[in-house]
Amino acid sequence: MTVLTRDFFDSFASSVRETEVAESLPPACYTSQEFFGFEKEAIFMREWLCVGREDWVPNTGDYYTFSHSGEPIIIARAQDGSLNAMSAVCQHRAMLVAEGRGNARGFLCPYHHWSYALDGRLVAAPAMSKTCNFDKAQNSLPKLKLESWHGFLFVNFDPDAEPLAPRLACLEPVMANYAVADLKGPQPGEPTVYPWNWKVMFENNNDGYHANRLHHGPLHDIVPSSLASFPELPEGTAGYYRLNGSTHPHASFNPTLKALFEVFPDLTEEERNRVLFVNLPPSLSMVVMNDMVLYLILDARAADSHGLTMGTLVTAGAMQDELYDLKMKMNEEAVTEIVGQDLHVDLMVQAGLNSRFAPRGRYSWQEGAQRQFNLWLVDRYEAGRAQLAQ
Ligand code: FES
Repeated sequence: MTVLTRDFFDSFASSVRETEVAESLPPACYTSQEFFGFEKEAIFMREWLCVGREDWVPNTGDYYTFSHSGEPIIIARAQDGSLNAMSAVCQHRAMLVAEGRGNARGFLCPYHHWSYALDGRLVAAPAMSKTCNFDKAQNSLPKLKLESWHGFLFVNFDPDAEPLAPRLACLEPVMANYAVADLKGPQPGEPTVYPWNWKVMFENNNDGYHANRLHHGPLHDIVPSSLASFPELPEGTAGYYRLNGSTHPHASFNPTLKALFEVFPDLTEEERNRVLFVNLPPSLSMVVMNDMVLYLILDARAADSHGLTMGTLVTAGAMQDELYDLKMKMNEEAVTEIVGQDLHVDLMVQAGLNSRFAPRGRYSWQEGAQRQFNLWLVDRYEAGRAQLAQ
């Protein structure tokens, strides 16, 4: 029996009311594989998806692979310095032409040696001279749209997608002084796969309500739930943010409770006394402190599975700090404890969502971000539903 009924879609309306009267989305949005298939078309094949940082591929020939919704992707810097995003699927018989990361002059499919340039063009295909109507130009790796925003790279599977940056204009004033495009950090390893819905993770990343509860204690109480605010943003925005005041300037989640690295130099007094949480659904969340940005890139894989790539950014000067490794270790150990609490909750929430008693729950005012996320989602669900009806 399908979950994609008219009543099901109509029921989303109660999730986008004002926070005081809204309720969460139906549990099936988090547990149904059929609904995940709908989301794949309605969201992941249409929206801009974060695939990493531009400085992961600084030199000609540098490449890395990533995936979203089961689609293998290559990001590569070509001879002319341009960045290219393309499918990794060989157009002969679907072998993946690249795995992991590295530097190469092109991509040679290991199976039958079709050879592709760094921009995806098929340049050679052995023993195909007797094949009728075979045109190399028609067999390049499918290209994806690619855009960079504050040093983060985004791809889009929809060739007609509107550019991303103009729809993020409302984030620019709060992002400007952090100069995120200039920040540096090591390329993280392969994504960690977690057995819960991508939205459970996304909601947890930006939940101001749980901060003082789940994470109660001296390490996290420096950014209290009571100082959270959720600015209203223009309709159609591709992202949103939460501002969360801190109990003292340069607050940071480590045993000193203060920034360990060089503080971003252009911050205002107000910015020195808060943490910024930025969300670009469906794939990027950032925790922007005064000396460090923690970013999370989500790649949804199934109704109950997604990959998570987590990285950190600091100033170029902080990267040169002799104590960089030690300071980062202090930060990571402290954050690991907080993240561990979140991961446990996420796993248990997914179990609860699978229950017949799973609620459509009501929100606290400190969960304004959940309603913002609902607005973002339901807009796209409605557009996807209209497509289904055609
Ligand atoms: Fe790639 Fe045959 S599958 S060359």
